[in-house]
Amino acid sequence: MMPAHLKAVASIERAAYNYPWSQAVFRDCLLAGYHCVVVEVGGVVTGYGIISIAAGEAHVLNLCVHPASQQLGYGRMLLNALLARCEVSDAERVYLEVRPSNAAALALYESAGFTRIGIRPAYYQAPHGREDAVVLAVTLRASR
Ligand SMILES: CC(C)(COP(=O)(O)OP(=O)(O)OC[C@H]1O[C@@H](n2cnc3c(N)ncnc32)[C@H](O)[C@@H]1OP(=O)(O)O)[C@@H](O)C(=O)NCCC(=O)NCCS
Repeated sequence: MMPAHLKAVASIERAAYNYPWSQAVFRDCLLAGYHCVVVEVGGVVTGYGIISIAAGEAHVLNLCVHPASQQLGYGRMLLNALLARCEVSDAERVYLEVRPSNAAALALYESAGFTRIGIRPAYYQAPHGREDAVVLAVTLRASR
């Protein structure tokens, strides 16, 4: 992901999430040095993933595919790209949070070897109050 991609990334974010990150948050991710990747199809940004890696641990911060291009394999491609960055950076343990209602994301992560390790209560905004997060993790070397 480069600064030139930010407008398209923020547009996908708004199309895919009820509570989207602003374009400024994505810019801050680039400035912070997080590993930020996009998938382009025919030169059009179609999805993106962001992971922070430090001290042998990684945290998937965002993974998103445009609603019109979901279920075509791009989400798994992006997740694999993020996990490959972990291997290059010697991060062995990878964490992420997901809404328990997000069946598609849970199926993707669990099929990639992530397991549920806990709950963060009232983590996400929701239409009526807050929604918990499921915390998932994978140990890369043990899972391969
Ligand atoms: C989660 C998300 C990134 C998956 O991306 P995608 O490109 O649609 O996923 P893929 O086509 O690569 O599918 C990979 C796996 O995800 C699971 N999956 C994807 N869509 C699914 C759906 N609608 N229902 C159930 N499982 C689904 C399947 O396990 C699938 O593997 P399979 O094709 O072998 O069955 C996508 O749904 C998305 O962007 N959602 C909105 C943003 C979001 O919620 N991100 C996750 C935040 S934690």
